[in-house]
Amino acid sequence: MKILVTGGMGFIGSHTVCELLEGGHEVVIVDNLCNSSVSVLDDIQAITHARPVFYQEDIRDKAAMDRIFAENKIDAVIHFAGLKAVGESVRMPLEYYHNNITGTLVLCDAMRKGGCKRIVFSSSATVYGMNNTVPFREDMPTSCTNPYGWTKMMLEQILQDLAVSDPEWSVVLLRYFNPIGAHPSGIIGENPNGIPNNLFPYIARVAAGTLPCLSVFGNDYDTPDGTGVRDYIHVVDLAEGHLKALDWTVANRGVEIVNLGTSRGTSVLELVAAFEKASGVKIPYKITERRPGDIASCYADTEKAARVLGWKAKYNIEDMCRDGWNYTAKGMKK
Ligand code: NAD
Ligand code: WQD
Repeated sequence: MKILVTGGMGFIGSHTVCELLEGGHEVVIVDNLCNSSVSVLDDIQAITHARPVFYQEDIRDKAAMDRIFAENKIDAVIHFAGLKAVGESVRMPLEYYHNNITGTLVLCDAMRKGGCKRIVFSSSATVYGMNNTVPFREDMPTSCTNPYGWTKMMLEQILQDLAVSDPEWSVVLLRYFNPIGAHPSGIIGENPNGIPNNLFPYIARVAAGTLPCLSVFGNDYDTPDGTGVRDYIHVVDLAEGHLKALDWTVANRGVEIVNLGTSRGTSVLELVAAFEKASGVKIPYKITERRPGDIASCYADTEKAARVLGWKAKYNIEDMCRDGWNYTAKGMKK
């Protein structure tokens, strides 16, 4: 199939593009490079020996999106493009709503005009909010506390409404838990600009010596060691989940909401210990205040992913730390 991947130059998108190319699909990427670099194209080629077609365009650009669908017979879309930093979304709500919501509206309109009605969308476990108990199941009520989360909730609603309006649409809303790690080649991975907000890239920078010490945000949660528990998932497992979701859109119509996680919770201190073991580097840390908006525990019920998509994560925390460290260590040598 010919797949349009929006945000295909980013962290999860680039890993998914590699899986698609290795699975024999043709790939067209649209990305405005606001949070990625054009060099990712060479990286994808180094891994897969194939080069996707690339449009450096903003998905909010109607004319550009219409042109992409006119120039390519797209069978399905995997839609990653969006802004994703929770704290930044609180400071810049208009930019987040405009980028994520308007971008998706323009994309879906171009899809409709281009006769392509299959879409796999990057949602997030953030939509489970503060009031559910773990493990999180897809039928639990959703809520959120910041503009980023609202964009995901609103887009889930918009895509469901679209499928109701026209039964030819096939929509899979994938709720990712905490994607970490890197491609086993060490060629692509996550390398955020500035000081990382998320735990795994922060630990990696401390291990690399570019940041001095990790702050552990609270050790008085109701969890086994008091630190926050999350469902970390290897980015390659996540990428494979998208290929399964794509298969679903080919065989079915309507909407499915599916968690992509491992169903295993790991605490901050457990992740630190696993990273130390994988890297052989001691990670200095100090306990600090809780981060506002954080919940104690977040992990997935993955029964639906297995039943509906036939997908299950293969990699464990050790694999994630090994591959994440391999990527970071390779970058240090450059
Ligand atoms: P990323 O920032 O690495 O990738 C997003 C890509 O989209 C970037 O390459 C960026 O340049 C591009 N982009 C952003 N706005 C665009 C626009 N208007 N037009 C064209 N391109 C645009 O992020 P990621 O971690 O790969 O996340 C991908 C998706 O998954 C996002 O929608 C994110 O909200 C969602 N998600 C991520 C996580 C996570 O922890 N990484 C968790 C849950 C959901
Ligand atoms: C994990 C744990 C922190 C940094 C976020 C978004 C979510 C999704 C994934 C997009 C928590 C603790 C963190 C640090 C720490 N993204 N921590 N020191 O908050 O689960 O999820 O990314 O959809 O929407 O909210 O991930 O990696 O920031 O935090 O102690 O320097 O690590 O308190 O317990 P989170 P995270």
